Order: sequence, then C-alpha cells, then structure tokens
Amino acid sequence: MSGSIPRPFIDDLLNRVDIVEIIDARVPLKKKGREYWACCPFHNEKSPSFSVSQNKQFYHCFGCQQHGNAISFLMEYDHMDFVESIETLAQHIGVEIPYEKGQYSQSHQSTKSTPQSESLMNTLKQCSDYYQNQLKHSTEAIDYLKERGVSGQTSKTYGIGFAPAGWNNLSGDSNNLIDSGMLIKNDSGKTYDRFRHRLMFPIRDRRGRTIAFGGRLIDPEDNPKYLNSPESPVFRKGEEIYGLFELKQANTQIDQIFVTEGYMDVVALAEHGISTAVATLGTAINKNQIEKLFRLSKKLVFCFDADRAGRKAAWRALENSLSLLKEGRIARFLFLPEGHDPDTFIKQFGNSVFLQHVDKASTLSQFLFAELLSQGEVHSPEGRALFLDKLRPYFTQIPLQSLKDQILREVEKRLSIELDARLLQVIGGNQPQATAKTIIPEQHWTPARLAINLLLQKPSLAQSTGNLEDLAEADIPGIELLLQILDQIHEQPDISTQNLLGRFEGHESESHLYKIAAMTPAMLNETDDIKPMFEDAIKKLRPKYAESRFQKLQEKLMSGHKLDENELHEYRQILRRDKK
Ligand code: UTP
Ligand code: MN
Repeated sequence: MSGSIPRPFIDDLLNRVDIVEIIDARVPLKKKGREYWACCPFHNEKSPSFSVSQNKQFYHCFGCQQHGNAISFLMEYDHMDFVESIETLAQHIGVEIPYEKGQYSQSHQSTKSTPQSESLMNTLKQCSDYYQNQLKHSTEAIDYLKERGVSGQTSKTYGIGFAPAGWNNLSGDSNNLIDSGMLIKNDSGKTYDRFRHRLMFPIRDRRGRTIAFGGRLIDPEDNPKYLNSPESPVFRKGEEIYGLFELKQANTQIDQIFVTEGYMDVVALAEHGISTAVATLGTAINKNQIEKLFRLSKKLVFCFDADRAGRKAAWRALENSLSLLKEGRIARFLFLPEGHDPDTFIKQFGNSVFLQHVDKASTLSQFLFAELLSQGEVHSPEGRALFLDKLRPYFTQIPLQSLKDQILREVEKRLSIELDARLLQVIGGNQPQATAKTIIPEQHWTPARLAINLLLQKPSLAQSTGNLEDLAEADIPGIELLLQILDQIHEQPDISTQNLLGRFEGHESESHLYKIAAMTPAMLNETDDIKPMFEDAIKKLRPKYAESRFQKLQEKLMSGHKLDENELHEYRQILRRDKK
C-alpha cells in the first residue's frame, strides 16, 4: 500500500506515536481497566463500545467493528488519505518522511513534498498571487464576475484571478514556469504566457497549494472557452478534484457532495450557500476520485447537464461508482432541465428550488433501470433475456447484498417475472458471497483464540515456546491464522503489536484478528504473567494432547464414572475432530 513511503518508516512511525494521544485529542477517552473507552465516533451509540488499547496501539469498536491503527483512524475520522495521515503523524512527532524517489504510486496524490515540487508550487503560488492582484485592477474582469453573479467574497475563497492580455506578463523562475506549463516555449526557443486575457481558477491540492490553473476566456471571440494547465510533476488530472480544498475548509460536517462538470458550477453553488460542490477537470470522474469523495461523505449527488454529453458522463459516473457502494453510501443523479447547468439553474431559481430537485434526483438503481429499459422493450421473452444480459455486468459489481436484493425485487417488478435459481444465475445473483465474518461469543475462548490474543499482546512470547511446527498437524479452527502470526514474528522477532496487525492489512482474517485482539480474556488479571497461560493454550493445541486427553476421558467413562459438562463437551469435540 505504501508505494512511495518506505514500510520500515511507517512501522517506526507507528511505534513512536501514541494512538491514545492521537485519538484523545479528537474523541475524549476514559480509562477503564486496561483500555481507553469512548462512544464510537463511527456510529451512533449511547454507551461506549469504542475501545483504544495503549499496549497494542489500536482501536476497535465492539458495536460497528471499525478498527485500525493511528493511520487508519486519521483516514476515517479526519477524512485524510493515506499519505496525508502519515504526514500528520510525522509532523506530530517532528520527523521528515523519506519519500522514495521516482516511485510515485498511482493511488496516491502526485503532490509530494520533494524539493522540486515545492519549488514548482512556490512559482505557481506567485502566479496565483499575481493573477489575484491583477483582478483587483481590471474593471473588465470585475464586471465579468459581477455579471455572472460572483461576489468578491466567493472570488476570494476560490482564489479567482485575472491573466491580463499580452504575451509576457509572468515573471519568476523560468524553468519552473515552463515545467508547470505556465510558459510555452516555441520552436525558436522563445517563451510566452499560456494564459492570456482570461479569468483564472487556481486548482489546489489537498493542502491548498496551487498546482495548476483553469482559465476562462472573457472575450467571446477567443477560443477555446477554457484552457487548462497541462499535467506536470505536481499536477495529475485524474487525481485532482476542483473545489475539494475549499470544501474541506468550509465544512466540518459534510452532508452531501455535489459533483459537477465545471469550475463555474462550483463557484455559483458556493455563491448560493452550497459549499460542498466539486468539479472534475473536464474528464470523466474515475474510481479513485469517487472513493476519495465517498470517504468525505456517504452521499454523492452527480449533477450533469441534461444534454447527451451530460448523460454519458453520468453513466460513466454510475459505472465507476458501482463497486464502491459499501454500507451506507448513496449515489444520486441529478438531471437539470434542458439547457441548464447547476450554475444557470441556481442563479435563476435559487437555492431551495435547486435542493428540491436534488431531493427528487434519481438514485443509482433508478438511473440504472431507466437507462437499460430505454435500450429495448421487455415485453417479450427475448427482450427480457436481453435486459438480464445487460444488467449482469453492472449487478455483479455491487458489493452490498442488501442493495442487490432490492435490485432483484425491482427486476421482478419491472419485468413481471419471478427470479428462480436459474434466472438468478443469468444475472449473476447467486455468486458465492464473500466469506462471512466469524463472530466470537465474547466469553468463548478456545485455546487457539487465546493463544492468538496473548501473542498479539506480547509477540515475544513466540520465542519462549520452542518448536511449534507440530501445530501445523493439528486440525483445529484458527490454527492456520496462529501459524501465520507466528511466521510473522519469526521473521521479525522484535515486532510490535501494531506492526504485527499491520502485516494483516487486507488479509481475509483482518477484522477477525482485530476482534480477538480487542477482547480481554475474562480469566486474565491485570498483573498476570501471561507466559504460562500462553504455554498452556499451546499445549492444548498439540495433536498429542488431544489424544492423551481423549484416552483419559475414555478411561473415566469405562470405569463407570460420569463426565461433567466440560469434560463431555471436550470429549465430543475430540470425537468430532477425529471424524473429519
Ligand atoms: P462547460 O462548457 O460546461 O462550461 O465545461 P461551464 O462550466 O458551463 O462554463 P461557463 O458556465 O460557460 O463558464 C465544463 C468544464 O469542461 C472543461 C472545463 O473544466 C469546464 O469547467 N472545459 C470546457 C475545458 O476544459 N475546455 C473547454 O473549452 C470547455
Ligand atoms: Mn456554465
């Protein structure tokens, strides 16, 4: 996952920050027993089930199962991305991140703080200051903004500026100006300003640093209407979202995000009191961008023009949203009346009419049906078969079973059919489900579970137990996971708990593991030495142990004694295991 930040640095960072401190600054914690507790910030509850462990340096909610380390907490709670949260933690303890050079990973922002990019961004800031300053002196530009209903305040919020006419207005480091696309070099080696006589929209990164510009013509005789900075070492179109920095600045609670097509749509919505709009940069919105937005708000409203291009863009947004529709996430599609975009619409009808339209916007499934049904009739068997064929690739991408169920119902209704097992197969409805999460009754400590719990508390226990290879032959649930944990510890004997948990990021047993780690065995006292307990748990896992226990119990039975409840349970378990 780390791409350009070395894993050892991340491990070290996690070992040096205190998660209790990080979380407590955001969600006040109370110590109770070994752990710290609070009402969970990730779901609604009245009594605390959110626990933070100082020993193990992770959090786990017994209510909603959210869990993770300091990095994931910041990602979830402060809506940061991976790099941002590492930067925040590094700043917290005052260390520099040793970015690996030339290895920018696709999934992360392009605007890393390398010396080169810092220098480019400095130059871009100078350009932005210059443009904003020019705006103050241009009656033409001010009149244009006035005519479009943009106030001075909103212009300031978005840093709107003005590039005057003329070919050589910009000054500054010419290499940087060329590298960032502000200057263009012609064949004879001369340079000239890319943006001339245009209203300038700075495109900012997550920290508010200017990384590119969009420029709108003022004189309708010019063209093209919008000119954008080319990609550069600090600007990757597919990763940036216009208006995201301003949105985060203006809001702590984000109810819903409006995804529009243009700079002016974002600015006009803000002008009318809607400060949660963003825009893509003249390209179709991709999954990476949608995921970023979903992390900030569970509700996205895609607002596209009513024309064909708008509908096509909306469809792309639907395709790219499907696989991201996890619990609670909702994507809606707003189609404004012909000839309008969010800018013209809100200007003409105002904020409340706009929001009324938003309330009536199509849900993703409504849009999906509308679009597929518009492609052909479903009154004949052939038509229905075609419909189901077309639905399949979309349907199978949806990760949320409850939404899938609703869509299946809708299919039955709209097509007047009943989906039997065979038809379900046609649309991919009976795909094997993702492995269900194992739920452990809280007091139910099998030896394997206990061993895992104790190892996670103190990874160095693995050293004291000698050879554990024979465990591999024990056919007991949980043994595989235990062995994987032991492997990790043998690889790095001094590994800390949170680093150990980090090795299971994305592993099929990740949340199972956190759950075991978060529970305190009832029989464990604060002062107990856990080593004997661990050794005892391991002993019970050994195949030979089961054999000898079985013989003992068998003997007891043969001699006419009754087994007590626990013994009976154990006896039956061994029998069952042997049958397999
Ligand atoms: P639109 O043509 O819908 O512009 O382009 P708009 O936002 O309504 O602009 P106004 O209201 O006329 O000022 C939407 C987006 O597509 C990109 C820009 O990012 C723009 O915001 N675009 C459009 C270009 O990059 N180049 C163009 O020539 C036109
Ligand atoms: Mn417009």
